Amino acid sequence: MIPHQIIEEIKFRSDITDVIGQYVTLKRAGSNMKGLCPFHNERTPSFTVYESTSSFYCFGCGAGGDVVSFVMRMENLGYVQALELLAKRAGIEIPEDSGRDEGGISRDRVLKMNLDAARFFRDRLNETPKALEYLSGRGYSQGLIRHFGMGYAPDGFGALTDYMHGLGYKDDELSAAFLCGVSRKTGRAFDYFRGRIIIPIIDTQKNVIAFGGRIMGDGQPKYLNTSDTPAFKKSRNLFALNYAKASCADEMILCEGYMDVIALHGAGFTNAVATLGTSITPEHARIMKRYTKKVLIAYDVDEAGQKAADRAFRLLDEVGLEARVIRVKDAKDPDEYIKKFGADRFRREVIGGAASGFEFRSGNILRGFDLSDQAQRIEAAKQLTAVIAETYSDVERDIYTRSIAEKLQIPYESLKADVKSRMRRTAKKARGEESEKIRLTAQGYGSIGGERLRSLSASSTEEAVLGLMMRYPEYAALVRNKDVALTVNDMKTELGRKLFGMITESEGVFSPDSLNESLTQEEVSRAYRMISGREGLTNDESVFRDCVSRLKAAASPSESGGSTLEDVSELINRKRMNTGASD
Ligand code: UTP
Ligand code: MN
Repeated sequence: MIPHQIIEEIKFRSDITDVIGQYVTLKRAGSNMKGLCPFHNERTPSFTVYESTSSFYCFGCGAGGDVVSFVMRMENLGYVQALELLAKRAGIEIPEDSGRDEGGISRDRVLKMNLDAARFFRDRLNETPKALEYLSGRGYSQGLIRHFGMGYAPDGFGALTDYMHGLGYKDDELSAAFLCGVSRKTGRAFDYFRGRIIIPIIDTQKNVIAFGGRIMGDGQPKYLNTSDTPAFKKSRNLFALNYAKASCADEMILCEGYMDVIALHGAGFTNAVATLGTSITPEHARIMKRYTKKVLIAYDVDEAGQKAADRAFRLLDEVGLEARVIRVKDAKDPDEYIKKFGADRFRREVIGGAASGFEFRSGNILRGFDLSDQAQRIEAAKQLTAVIAETYSDVERDIYTRSIAEKLQIPYESLKADVKSRMRRTAKKARGEESEKIRLTAQGYGSIGGERLRSLSASSTEEAVLGLMMRYPEYAALVRNKDVALTVNDMKTELGRKLFGMITESEGVFSPDSLNESLTQEEVSRAYRMISGREGLTNDESVFRDCVSRLKAAASPSESGGSTLEDVSELINRKRMNTGASD
């Protein structure tokens, strides 16, 4: 088997839209991508790629999974072969198996290794002038470098490995901590970080949980990061939260990169954090909600950064955080801005100019049109109407309608009428999608292992519960609470019991990535349908608890009397948009 952290690395480097895009022409559809399904014949696209969960699902034939499942199906390969193909594509060398399993190495042991390694890196930095020069050249003071415990990983393959051997750590431990790789050819351990500036990632309990390593100057990859280890999961850790937690109660700044955060802290903005070698996940959003009320998204100004900002905005909004997007001018990111223009100007012009989600989105639309041209003004109005129609509050909607009517020089009353009819149409469409979903749910349950559920409600509820648990691992922990007390016996299907077992046994570190290892392709597809089924819906704890109590109350298949379709649709499709508001 391929070591777990290498699998993580392969998946991280295999962007699902890039990989699938090589086989299928994908077009953007809202926050997702759509295309013609490569697994069955169709003329209208029902094959959907969900960037937020790095998964795909086809509403036509029910095929679904992650990037590995896609390659398995597409190239007709086994799990390991598919990983090997993706590794090759991403330029990752798969080290030789040394017949061990990182599961045996404890979190405490990894933390101890990391601390020793961090000290080693720090000492190397202090004796390496070119590394110190690189950092001072970027404008980081000695104090700032010390504050973040930065270090340097020497060139060559054995510096850290030899040092750690001297402290009594074994190769398998070092590789479980992602400090070393093991060469496939020679079987020997080698340093993972080489010739790089090291940035330790420290959690809120002051543990060194991971490292980021930046190459000095140009070179690929620019950053190497610790993949998931027994002590670190990148989808739920934020860089510099250990410092930011003291000053972010009102407002937090979310950056794209380590260096942005370091520069901001250096300039006095100690409420800045960043995700680590990954884009923001729903877990990040919920963690942020624990610490702050409002998030300023300060991503890079390039197109990728702004696309990411849009996604971050939606994820933060979904957990009920107030989000604003800030955009630096005449610099590519906050780091460069601070260096060029200083902290005062950052506070005044960038933070002061933070745009609300509506301003951000409408600004993006308005920029794309020449408003002196009548046809273009009409198209702009159409797109803006759609954005306004998504707003929850009547008051807010009215404010936006007035502001846009003025900007486009069109009568307020007619724009208002357009918004209303748009809302009505959306509501109707949502109802249509509900019945479609119910139909598919029913179909899906009919086909697995011959198990047929008489109660549609129970099956959809089980899907919702498991989908939430797979998407949001904290709900998986919640099921043990006395007031929730959901057990495997509450599951209604064979697959449900299997998934429930896998999720709860993983002790809060369940990742759908592991499904391919133990389920059939059909089962993987079903599991991903549960995950993607939660896309765009309200996914807060109250919904989860509601689904759980319905599931517990639902009769098991054999004794079920069945409940009404309204029941089900209400539950599985509670839209966060006010789709029903206008009628
Ligand atoms: P950027 O390329 O914007 O890096 O990637 P940066 O923070 O501005 O770095 P400098 O200023 O060029 O040194 C943003 C973030 O994306 C992740 C890292 O977390 C980085 O901070 N990333 C980027 C990687 O993990 N790997 C890469 O190869 C590149
Ligand atoms: Mn950057």
